[in-house]
Amino acid sequence: MKIRSVRGTHDLYDDNIKKFNLIKDLITYKGQLQSFKELQTPIFELSELFSKPLGELSDVVLKEMYSFQDRGDEFLTLRPEFTTPMIRAAISNNLLKEIPLKLFGIGPMFRRERPQKGRFRQFNQINFEIFGSEDYMAELELIVLANDILHSLIPDVDISLNLNTLGQRNNLKNYKDILSKYFYDNKLKLSKESREKIHKNPLRILDSKQENDVEISNLAPTIYDHISNESKYNFDQLRKALQSFNIKYEINHNLVRGLDYYCGTVFEFKTKSLGSQDTLLGGGRYDGLIGLLGGPDIPGVGWAAGIERISMLMKSDFKKEKYIHLAINNEKFKIHLQKIIKLLQENNIPFYWNYKYNIKKSLSKANMSDANIVIIVGEKEYQNNNCTLKFLDTGEQKEININEIKSYIK
Ligand code: HAM
Repeated sequence: MKIRSVRGTHDLYDDNIKKFNLIKDLITYKGQLQSFKELQTPIFELSELFSKPLGELSDVVLKEMYSFQDRGDEFLTLRPEFTTPMIRAAISNNLLKEIPLKLFGIGPMFRRERPQKGRFRQFNQINFEIFGSEDYMAELELIVLANDILHSLIPDVDISLNLNTLGQRNNLKNYKDILSKYFYDNKLKLSKESREKIHKNPLRILDSKQENDVEISNLAPTIYDHISNESKYNFDQLRKALQSFNIKYEINHNLVRGLDYYCGTVFEFKTKSLGSQDTLLGGGRYDGLIGLLGGPDIPGVGWAAGIERISMLMKSDFKKEKYIHLAINNEKFKIHLQKIIKLLQENNIPFYWNYKYNIKKSLSKANMSDANIVIIVGEKEYQNNNCTLKFLDTGEQKEININEIKSYIK
């Protein structure tokens, strides 16, 4: 019986697992340098954690959540994103007693989207969050960190930063009314899907990728004209600060992000090198969300990036790991071989053994592999408690006592 993998999932092996681990190591290092603490949360949560906070009309909640009733009567969802689980965990574990709280996490997310290049149903995210600061310096720290991480991992890729502000939560409500009226006046030109959102959540129309919706959205009243002076001031300060960090950005007034919890600054790092799934990293401010989830009424800001999308743009020029290939002539030398393996293991010397007893075949296999040394055990070596080292780069050979292995192989 041959069982296929689930559509939209993928296995990680060879270079892809190396890239994954490299990303993980870099994130952990960079995160810790700036005092972000690592947090892991379960991959499933109670469904109510996601449905309202992400927005009942967001694509994620409408079409993409993997939700099920467990064998009891609880409704559970495989996490489609990390921000709400992180907030839930910070509240459950009383981590918000000291703010600002800076957290990062890495792990799999699940969304039932139509799979295509760069879009999966199980994918991995890197996630950074700051809970408890309304200072634009928090946005600045996160955007600078994101920029640094992306440029370290994919230095040659053309990446652009899109920036917008949605203003404060109360302004947003006012703007939504203005937007609803505008879309209502143009409803005949909108897609059926967007028409259904005119009154319930017009911001989602700005997020539509359908050609005629985009045309109407481009002429819609912009949010910047409806936000408070304080929001404008903060946004301008952030823009100036980004300039002083030499980080280029483009203002995109239609950038609203796909989830409902955002207000204030929103941003996305995009690339032209990936086709239609062009967003590498996205995030923003979500003041009000922590309170909505039962925590204190404190602000929050963060971002997430897709590991697979970054990985697809990373080079595969990994240094070959050197190791020893074992070549044994005869099954009767097994006990002698066990002593050699014990020595290699005790001294953390990397080796490979394929359970074959044929020196000629082992040598030709070693020559085609990344091994740099072959340990050969034939009759003569066996009789004298020895082994022969063959250095593959020079062809040089030397017979030594097995107790000398450590001093010969560094
Ligand atoms: P998001 O924009 O939904 O934001 O996802 C962030 C990133 O995850 C995307 O830019 C993309 O790189 C990756 N991603 C999303 N869906 C897929 C998919 N189906 N396959 C492959 N990669 C994907 C969030 O999730 C927010 N929680 C970000 C955030 C954190 N906002 C504030 N804090």
